[in-house]
Amino acid sequence: MRLKDKVAIITGAAQGIGKRTAEIFAREGAKVVIADFDAEAGQKLADSLEDAIFVKVDVSKSESANEMVKKAIDKYGKLDILVNNAGITKDGWMVKMTEEQWDQVIDVNLKGVFNCSQPAAKQMMEQGEGVILNATSIVGLYGNIGQTNYAASKFGVIGMTKSWAKELSPKGIRVNAVAPGYTMTAMMETVPDKVLDNLRKGNPLGRLGQPDDIANAYLYLASDEASYVNGLVLSVDGGQVLGS
Ligand SMILES: NC(=O)c1ccc[n+]([C@@H]2O[C@H](COP(=O)([O-])OP(=O)(O)OC[C@H]3O[C@@H](n4cnc5c(N)ncnc54)[C@H](O)[C@@H]3O)[C@@H](O)[C@H]2O)c1
Repeated sequence: MRLKDKVAIITGAAQGIGKRTAEIFAREGAKVVIADFDAEAGQKLADSLEDAIFVKVDVSKSESANEMVKKAIDKYGKLDILVNNAGITKDGWMVKMTEEQWDQVIDVNLKGVFNCSQPAAKQMMEQGEGVILNATSIVGLYGNIGQTNYAASKFGVIGMTKSWAKELSPKGIRVNAVAPGYTMTAMMETVPDKVLDNLRKGNPLGRLGQPDDIANAYLYLASDEASYVNGLVLSVDGGQVLGS
């Protein structure tokens, strides 16, 4: 087991990539905190795993994020891994994007990562070790039409990842990011079939990502096998950009 007795918080774990990550972490022996604002799906997942709890959180609110970390520590006594996976899209052309669309995406995807990492890092510094993993995106490396707010948030996540890798590693905390390519989850439901087909055709591997592909990257980075990996942005996209 690659995460035996590690305590991991995974935000946005009620569905999609976060859910699969929680299942794989649990399979590898971790005690998992399913953190999401979808209480029904989150609790159901927690009930299905060997040793897991559900914690309702809105990552965009610092008080809620602080409470999430406190509940994890109250339950399990320590915190080894934080996966900042929660994220949303509110797409629109830049010239038509509303202030609300901008604020919502920045609040969850960028500020949310900061809100959760701050209390987690304080705990990990006390312990002298820990791992923080952040969800960026292919869009956080290359930008995308209609995703000004999302791209800004995901570029920002890379900035925080690299800053924290420098700031926190002397305290024993490794910080890395995963940049998924287009991955088949609910987030992709609004993308028209024709666009999905083109993305598939443009990918050297001829397919889009599955939650497993991304969850396995988190597993590697969370495990001791990655003990010398710090400040990395790991693209998991089938080589999508090579094909475009
Ligand atoms: N699916 C993709 O193609 C893709 C590609 C690149 C990056 N990503 C990133 O991976 C992460 C997961 O994506 P996904 O496709 O699994 O998404 P998803 O929409 O399937 O799941 C996101 C989860 O986050 C939760 N969530 C949303 N806002 C929240 C908040 N404020 N507080 C707590 N929980 C909240 C939702 O309830 C949901 O369970 C996101 O950060 C996303 O940006 C996804």
